[in-house]
Amino acid sequence: MKTKHLIFLPLLSILLLVSCRKTEKQDLLGIIDKSLERATVLSLDMAKSLENDTLLLPRSFENGKLVTSDSRWWCSGFFPGVLWYLYENQPTEELKKYAVDYTDRVEREKFTTDNHDVGFMVYCSFGNGFRLLETESYKEVILQASKSLSTRYKDPIGLIRSWDWNKETWQYPVIIDNMMNLEMLMWAAKNSGDKRFEEIARNHADKTMKEHFRPDYSCFHLVDYDTITGNARLKQTVQGYSDSSSWARGQAWAIYGYTMMYRETGDKKYLDHAEHIARFILNHPRLPEDKIPYWDFDAPNIPDELRDASAGAVMASAFIELSTLTSDKKLSEQCLRTAETQIRTLSSPEYLAEPGTNGNFILKHSVGSLPGKQEVDVPLTYADYYYVEAMVRYKKLGSILKAG
Ligand code: GLY
Repeated sequence: MKTKHLIFLPLLSILLLVSCRKTEKQDLLGIIDKSLERATVLSLDMAKSLENDTLLLPRSFENGKLVTSDSRWWCSGFFPGVLWYLYENQPTEELKKYAVDYTDRVEREKFTTDNHDVGFMVYCSFGNGFRLLETESYKEVILQASKSLSTRYKDPIGLIRSWDWNKETWQYPVIIDNMMNLEMLMWAAKNSGDKRFEEIARNHADKTMKEHFRPDYSCFHLVDYDTITGNARLKQTVQGYSDSSSWARGQAWAIYGYTMMYRETGDKKYLDHAEHIARFILNHPRLPEDKIPYWDFDAPNIPDELRDASAGAVMASAFIELSTLTSDKKLSEQCLRTAETQIRTLSSPEYLAEPGTNGNFILKHSVGSLPGKQEVDVPLTYADYYYVEAMVRYKKLGSILKAG
């Protein structure tokens, strides 16, 4: 009799674990619904507050004042992107009207050729709009933006140049953030039939993989290349703590970028690389329990250093996607659990703003550039964008989980 019971014990614990995990996930889905509702209230208030300033977009909230930008700022596409994701979550005419309005404000950036951020600006706004509504005129804007971005690619070097400033020090600077712009080129290749866009994206991802990463799969912020030989000549940071440190948002752009490149190309080397980056982040001894990273993994005064909500949000979104792509079951579960913790933390009062506060931005506590003393511990539109994207992604996963 006793032996019979002992046989059933392990089975019972497995069943209990599975049922606890299911309850945990249901509970998170409830939190996500509430957070998306809150995000909608805040974002509609934001949209209304700038309704008549038709050239402006929200940028941050500092010293009790809303900071705006025109479309030239690298972040101009994020607020329209937030509106599109909120519309996807809850398709109301009001959200659509504002999503279209704020997207239109960014259109002239399709001609941007003096920096690499055209991908962020146009794909987060027009790209999401096209994904949801298939508005024909948006297609032309994204294709034009992709042509503009491609002018920054030089064949012998094999990379898209990020910035044109600081010419006395850099010849051909490329920052890890640039991986994010490749998604637009992959879209352009598929939607125009011009394979050159894909070739540029793949070449950029390949050379970045070779030059930007250290043996532990952490990455440098910036690599500068010799314009004649195409060789890397400097490896530095601009927004991180030091040249050899791991700037948190840089690691986030890296894991998001390579996960996306695997999704878009099916090329296993990008998946392998994303998995390595994921392990670096997930197993890092200085990634806090609540999984929102300090602004730099090597900041000198951890735990008395600022967190960066934007890095946490970008990571959460990437981890959710990677959890669905990797065939390493243990890693997949670790990615998903970490993303869940990140979403829970960002949805807590410490990070998620109350309506009528925070200048109507969704999240508090992001860090733009601490060394540059710019946008330190403030709300930022890209934190909001990737947080909302992560929640929408998780909900899509949630319907699969419910069915399972
Ligand atoms: N792309 C600029 C940043 O991540 O701050």
